[in-house]
Amino acid sequence: MKKVLIATEKPFAPAAIKKIKGIIEKAGYELALCEKYTEKSTLLEAVASADAMIVRSDKVDEEVLNAAKNVKIVVRAGAGYDNVHCEAASANGVVVMNTPGQNSNAVAELAIGMAIFGLREFFTGKAGGELRKRTLGLHGFGFVARNVFRIARAFGMKVVVYTRYSKAAAAAIGLKVTDSLEDLYAESDIISIHVPARGEHIKSVSMDVLKHLKKGGVIVNTARKEVINENDLVAFMEEREDVKYLSDIAPDCKALMEEKFTGRYFSTPKKAGAQTAEANINAGVAAAEQIVGFFENGDETFKVN
Ligand code: 3PG
Repeated sequence: MKKVLIATEKPFAPAAIKKIKGIIEKAGYELALCEKYTEKSTLLEAVASADAMIVRSDKVDEEVLNAAKNVKIVVRAGAGYDNVHCEAASANGVVVMNTPGQNSNAVAELAIGMAIFGLREFFTGKAGGELRKRTLGLHGFGFVARNVFRIARAFGMKVVVYTRYSKAAAAAIGLKVTDSLEDLYAESDIISIHVPARGEHIKSVSMDVLKHLKKGGVIVNTARKEVINENDLVAFMEEREDVKYLSDIAPDCKALMEEKFTGRYFSTPKKAGAQTAEANINAGVAAAEQIVGFFENGDETFKVN
């Protein structure tokens, strides 16, 4: 009997586990759980007897993959798979998949919520601002950004986007695509970052870009900390007392940011973008179905390695 392991340091909602279990057991497989683990050794022990894994932001490195001797497929229940060592997986003959789009509304709602939190001065009672008539700049135009766009329009915002790969999709709905990331910052009151921690996106938000941000600008990052050049971010916030940075992923320089930029910096205590029952169900169910499809029919539709 095949064993599917859910290895989630940050667990799914119980309703998602129930649905995943239903799919796995209907296929005649066994479901095992390794949740809220605090030691890597716990994960290494759990993967040893698994044939497939469902993970979230859990680090699946070479050591984990080598310990997962029988694992044929790892599904990252979510979008970003920067936590999985894809080359090592390929070398071990392991298929890696993600579940694109499944948790994107949840992340988009958090991005808008954080924009409001920033504009409303972190709910301190100080007079803030409104979204309506402000310009939102989307850095990237994947599933999350498209949901942010949908919600922002309902708030009466003007939306612009900088994207290299989804220009046609943006133009098709009449969305203005800026010529450069610098232009996006120059036109936006609020920036929402939605690019993966890969390739040219790494540290793409540098001083050269940041310095163009409009006065009073708010940057919301629900993507990854790696896309920001943190030294530049600190220098920029020192220079520009009018700007704010809110992130769903604590930067490495979190302590410094907290100390220096009270009232202008916020990060969630734990990545919360996809932490809703709905997102957990969508991504978890998709992951389970992809695993069954892979074993039963050789379906590799969402393979990323
Ligand atoms: C993603 O890449 O799907 C999001 O960052 C969500 O990550 P999480 O599953 O760790 O909450």
